[in-house]
Amino acid sequence: MSDIQNKDDISLLVVKFYDKLLQDDEMKLIFAGLDFKAHVPNIVQFWSFVLFDEEGYKTNVFDKHLHLPIKPHQFDEWLKTFNATVDELFSGEKAEMAKLRATTLAFTFKSKWEKLKGSN
Ligand code: HEM
Repeated sequence: MSDIQNKDDISLLVVKFYDKLLQDDEMKLIFAGLDFKAHVPNIVQFWSFVLFDEEGYKTNVFDKHLHLPIKPHQFDEWLKTFNATVDELFSGEKAEMAKLRATTLAFTFKSKWEKLKGSN
């Protein structure tokens, strides 16, 4: 199994991740109405920035979620699915980095979310 090496690998990761995540009906509701064609390139750009220091991503990611009806426990589900998708497809330094960054971000999001919106 090879490591995450380029943007095509990130695209594959993102597409497979959403395939899995959206099997959950509750999760699916949150993404209802989202234009995935427009969304996926943003996520790919985000992970290219995180993993390959590629410039061009300046969005405040947490703020992008504030309007969504996310429940705190769903951050755990998001993370579990993300890490499982990485493990299924890749192994190596970047794969480990992706999981580590996702873990840190999901944890931070969840804590900030609970402070802002309560824990239910
Ligand atoms: C339960 C957990 C999560 C759900 C349901 C969720 C859902 C979404 C949705 C629906 C959008 C599109 C928002 C819009 O454009 O209107 C979005 C954007 C995004 N999310 Fe999440 N998200 C979750 C957690 C995370 C985490 C932990 C990260 C950090 C790695 C993350 C990274 C992003 C990025 C990078 C964008 C794109 C922002 C942009 O448009 O540039 N998400 N998310």
